[in-house]
Amino acid sequence: MRKTFFQILPLVIVVVGGGLFFHGRPGVSEQKKDDSLKNVQVMTDLTREQLEDFMSDVVDYLGVEKCTFCHVRDKSSDENKHKVKARKYMKMVKELNNTVFKDEKPEEKITCFTCHRGEKEVQNKPKE
Ligand code: HEC
Ligand code: HEC
Repeated sequence: MRKTFFQILPLVIVVVGGGLFFHGRPGVSEQKKDDSLKNVQVMTDLTREQLEDFMSDVVDYLGVEKCTFCHVRDKSSDENKHKVKARKYMKMVKELNNTVFKDEKPEEKITCFTCHRGEKEVQNKPKE
């Protein structure tokens, strides 16, 4: 346990330190942001590539067929009510991982899959 911690420590320093370093320099983290993203309100710290990877994960977490479960042709549109709902859950998951589960290992953070288990419908009380 102890050994593993010290084995990953240099990596943690590089990742966290590097992040702080770049964050502190105006312009550097800004440049990464993709201006073509029009209506991203919660997942604001991702590049387009990271956002699209995350979206593919969401498809699997919820076991939906395609992106069209949430998106109309223009992906920045909020016309689809599933997208609007999904944004609330993205906010919930992000906030919980940054607060309550802040010190958990990456594999112990919560994801949509924690509750959804590959299903879009989740029961929030026992069936009568
Ligand atoms: C369960 C719903 C859901 C699914 C499925 C989904 N998305 Fe999204 N998508 C969202 C939400 C919610 C946002 C807005 C996130 C925010 O505001 O931070 C978004 C935003 C985006 C954006 C940013 C658009 C912009 O310019 O504002 C892109 C691009 C995108 N999704 C691509 C995809 C792709 C590609 C897929 C399929 C692989 C996909 N999404 C599947 C919910 C979904
Ligand atoms: C703590 C448990 C939990 C987590 C984590 C969770 N959900 Fe959910 N989700 C639910 C429950 C319960 C419902 C059913 C009640 C409702 O509609 O809000 C639901 C419903 C939804 C719906 C509505 C489905 C429909 O058919 O209209 C969407 C979309 C959704 N979640 C997306 C997400 C996404 C995307 C994530 C990950 C970012 C996520 N959820 C994470 C519990 C969770």
